[in-house]
Amino acid sequence: MNATAAPPLHPKATAVFTCILAALAGLMFGLDVGVISGAQKFIQHEFGVSDTMIGWIVSIMMAGAAIGALSAAWMSNTLGRKRSLILGAVLFVAGSILCAFAWSAEVLIVARVVLGLAIGIASFTAPLYLAEIAPEKIRGSMISLYQLMITIGILAAFLSDTAFSYSGNWRWMLGIIAIPGALFLIGVFFLPYSPRWLMMRGRRAEAEQVLEKLRGDRSVVEHELNDIAEQLKTPQRGWHLFQENSNFRRSVGLGVLLQVMQQLTGMNVMMYYSPRIFEGMGSNTETQMWSTVAVGLTNVLATFIAIGLVDKLGRKPILYAGFVVMALGLGTVGTMMHLGIHTHSQQLFTVGMLLIFIVGFAMSAGPLIWTLCAEVQPLKGRDFGIGCSTFTNWAANYLVGISFLPLLNSIGNATTFWLYAAFNVVFIFLTIWFVPETKGVTLEQIERNLMAGKRLREIGQ
Ligand code: BGC
Repeated sequence: MNATAAPPLHPKATAVFTCILAALAGLMFGLDVGVISGAQKFIQHEFGVSDTMIGWIVSIMMAGAAIGALSAAWMSNTLGRKRSLILGAVLFVAGSILCAFAWSAEVLIVARVVLGLAIGIASFTAPLYLAEIAPEKIRGSMISLYQLMITIGILAAFLSDTAFSYSGNWRWMLGIIAIPGALFLIGVFFLPYSPRWLMMRGRRAEAEQVLEKLRGDRSVVEHELNDIAEQLKTPQRGWHLFQENSNFRRSVGLGVLLQVMQQLTGMNVMMYYSPRIFEGMGSNTETQMWSTVAVGLTNVLATFIAIGLVDKLGRKPILYAGFVVMALGLGTVGTMMHLGIHTHSQQLFTVGMLLIFIVGFAMSAGPLIWTLCAEVQPLKGRDFGIGCSTFTNWAANYLVGISFLPLLNSIGNATTFWLYAAFNVVFIFLTIWFVPETKGVTLEQIERNLMAGKRLREIGQ
């Protein structure tokens, strides 16, 4: 567990290895998000619980994640990034094992809270750590790699759920995640401490050692150390800034709004309840499971569209396109459900529309909201600002998860999908009014504009 524990590789290989390992945190995140969709039907059958209880089992994890993200903001400063990731990994393993052996729905709820704490910690700490250890040139792609790993994790969980669905063994579905969790835990022990965190603690010599391993080149190391030292002259004082500076309150509000928008697109309804939605269209268990795999695969593939286009087209055009596609996809699904899905081709068409919705999310709001949330906060309040938006992501995620089944049961399938389609239409306007274009603008420029009181949508100019 010391700063020199990185394996003796070529510096570039060490940096890439380190980033991949940290991005595996994204994989764990995705596995946990995805796994419950295929398992819930069998859990409901074994414990004989109501839809309300299933809603709790699904959603309580996100409440745990909201708390995990908040505590991670504090832990990553005091314990450090590496130890926070270790704690996250331990909780992953413990939570997965407890899920597998849960003897009642209540125990399952406790296990899901533990898993939630784990992903809350990972979802805050891993991107932060990645940004701090990736070499400048590959920083952008390393952060996209993280979102990609989330989607790959979701797909892997859908696939493994499908494999176990033939025997209906939900305990294996939930328990098997302990294996990648344990591998991740072993890997994290080999991660170096974040050089920036070491510098924050006044451990410059160790920071230098780590950077030497990661970069290899003395002049680069010297330059980066001086940069970090320069940046640390601006201490993090988010809460004070929030109290006294209305411009900072605006950027925090923007981060919160962006994450509410991301969640109310309805994406996680598909992540958690796909098999049930397909069941509502009249498909059998096997078709439900394979259609869910198609959802997961589409999610992975369409993420590449965002990665390829974000620095060419900019954030806003991609967000507009995404919200339009999502509104059309969900609106059509709602209409099909309203008219009634009777034939095989009507079924296929509706599944196709859901996949189009997934493309809309994965090419836009999925990765871009996270990018924007990191870009709009001023340096002095960055940790606080990102902490607030990450917390909001999970809190809104929780509300979407817990309200979906009651919505279906009260206003019906069609109206529920129309409601989410309507949200996406509203988000087109919110993007026009509030979201800045940040493509090709330095973070310093964004900060100057924000603090000069420019309108939010103009802080990227
Ligand atoms: C969202 C998650 C979602 C995932 C799906 C992420 O950007 O924050 O809530 O489950 O994308 O790929």
